[in-house]
Amino acid sequence: MNLLEVQNICKTYGSGEAAVNALKNVSFSVPKGEYVAIVGESGSGKSTLLNMIGALDVPTSGKVMIDGKDIFAMKEQNLTIFRRRNIGFIFQAFNLIPELTVEQNILFPLLLDYRKPDRQYLEELLTVLNLEKRRNHLPSQLSGGQQQRVAIGRALITRPSLILADEPTGNLDSQNSREVIALLKEASGKYEQTIVMITHNRSIAQSADRVLSVSDGQLTDLGRCHE
Ligand SMILES: Nc1ncnc2c1ncn2[C@@H]1O[C@H](COP(=O)(O)OP(=O)(O)O)[C@@H](O)[C@H]1O
Ligand SMILES: [Mg+2]
Repeated sequence: MNLLEVQNICKTYGSGEAAVNALKNVSFSVPKGEYVAIVGESGSGKSTLLNMIGALDVPTSGKVMIDGKDIFAMKEQNLTIFRRRNIGFIFQAFNLIPELTVEQNILFPLLLDYRKPDRQYLEELLTVLNLEKRRNHLPSQLSGGQQQRVAIGRALITRPSLILADEPTGNLDSQNSREVIALLKEASGKYEQTIVMITHNRSIAQSADRVLSVSDGQLTDLGRCHE
C-alpha cells in the first residue's frame, strides 16, 4: 500500500509577470515504510514540495493522499488534527521551546492533543536518541546534534505514519549528521514509519531506499540506492 501519493501537483507563487512556477506537475508515490531522499539545487522547489505534502501550504492544483485520505479535501480543523497525529516534521532549525526541558519538548505535541504520554515509549526514544542523561536539560545546554535529536524525538513521540524532514542535518557537522540520521532510521524502522527527507548531503541521500531529484520544479526518480 502507498502511504503517500502525490498526484499532479502544481504550485505557482504570485501572478502575472511575477509568477513563479515552483512545482510543475509533480507526481510520485511512496509505499509504507519507505525512506525517500529528495535532492536538488537550491531554489528547485524541494521545500515547496515538502510543505505541500505536510499541508503547510496549498497547491495551485493537484492532490496529496496520505494513508488513502485526500488531505486538501478535509475541513481545516480536521486537517490540523490529522496533521498533528499523522505527520512528524523535522526542520533545519530545531525550533525547540527554550523554557522547556528535553523531556518536555519531546512530549509537547502530545500536550497539544490532550493525550497522555506513553512513558515507556518516551523512555525508549530517550534511549535510542541517546538523551537519557540530558532529559532535564534545557535546549541552551545542549549541542546542535543533541538539539536535533530532541527535535527528532518530538517528531516521533506521536508515532506518526509519515516523517517529513527538510535538511535536518543542515546545521550539523558530518559526525553529528551521520549519528542523527542513523538514529532516525533506527527509530522509524522499528515502527514502519515512512520518511521523506530533503538533503544536500550525498552520503545521507545514499542511505535512503530511493532518491528523487527536483530540478526547476520537476521531479525525476533516480531510483533505488545500492549501498
Ligand atoms: N512564499 C514564496 N513566495 C514566492 N516565491 C516563493 C515562495 N517560496 C518559494 N518561492 C520560490 O519558489 C522556488 C522554489 O523554492 P523552494 O521550494 O524554497 O526551493 P528549495 O527548497 O529547493 O531551495 C524558488 O524560486 C523560490 O524563490
Ligand atoms: Mg528548501
